[in-house]
Amino acid sequence: MKKRLISGVKPTGDIHIGNYFGAMKQFVDLQNDYESYVFIADLHALNQIHDPKKLKNNILEIAKAYISIGLDPKKVTLFRQSDVPAVSELCWIFNSITPLGLLQRAHAYKDAVAKGKNINAGLFDYPVLMAADILMYGADVVPVGEDQKQHVEITQDIAQKFNNLYGNTFVVPQELILKEVSTISGLDGRKMSKSYDNVIGLFEDDESLKQKVMSIVTDSRKPEEPKNPKEDNIFALHKLFLNEKELLNLANRYKEGKISYKESKEMLFEEIKTFVAPIRAKKKELDGHPEYVVEVLENGKDNALKEANKTIEKVKAKVGLKIR
Ligand code: TYM
Repeated sequence: MKKRLISGVKPTGDIHIGNYFGAMKQFVDLQNDYESYVFIADLHALNQIHDPKKLKNNILEIAKAYISIGLDPKKVTLFRQSDVPAVSELCWIFNSITPLGLLQRAHAYKDAVAKGKNINAGLFDYPVLMAADILMYGADVVPVGEDQKQHVEITQDIAQKFNNLYGNTFVVPQELILKEVSTISGLDGRKMSKSYDNVIGLFEDDESLKQKVMSIVTDSRKPEEPKNPKEDNIFALHKLFLNEKELLNLANRYKEGKISYKESKEMLFEEIKTFVAPIRAKKKELDGHPEYVVEVLENGKDNALKEANKTIEKVKAKVGLKIR
């Protein structure tokens, strides 16, 4: 029997290459080896997006992105988190056994407090809903970027707590984080993130792509000066697109002062453009067939519901919510 994989992306804006290389590419690479559940975390997006039109559009965009990058709906259960009401029920059951301190230690929550953000209960409870997402489908592995590691650890804690209280019920899942792409850096060298406004979109048009790439922050070394590839934000992104030999060659040009940052950026722009071309073409095709995309999600929903209903029935019986 194949092991199970689950992961999701929040529909809070355009997909960027950090999402792609950090997590989504793994969904594609592993789809033949694992029984995969890949979803659109639309309930999670609700604590950030309160514009219904935008949310609806973002949901469809992620669905199209999943298919465009190569996820095969015949192999993978592609679905929307909110299509499975049992996930909210499971979240509530987990809420009732989750210590407050566990959530107070969550980085995302602590960051929001430190920045003086207006925090809603949904943001605080975010990791518990995520635990419900993961444990609902008995996932063995959860491919994610480094920023989600703590959330998977909280999931492990919740699974263990439940198992201790009510008897062995949940598989304790493992995060799957690929070291070399665990945190993709953005235009300014910080983690690529929508909230830092430093992202390169996967579906960005050429003009804006070029403008973004040319704005990557560098030091002020002149074209002929030797440069350190290890400390350069452009070089960090080349690593995603070039093979070992090409990278070595480029690193030597850096060290010998044989390339300017401008030239390196122009190269990177071409690399990204070539890489995203087939993904963008597929997405364009899907833009013309929204009914197909909705159908894929409907099929995924049926599959996900079957699995989720089994789990929630079992859980209800274990906690004493079944009287017959
Ligand atoms: P989200 O939508 O913020 O990001 C989707 C995935 O992209 C990864 N990622 C990155 N990886 C490397 N470098 C980066 N700069 C970078 N930026 C984002 C994220 O780590 C993530 O894997 N909470 C999740 C969605 C979620 C989920 C789940 C994931 C909800 N329930 C259950 C797995 C399992 C999130 O907000 O991801």
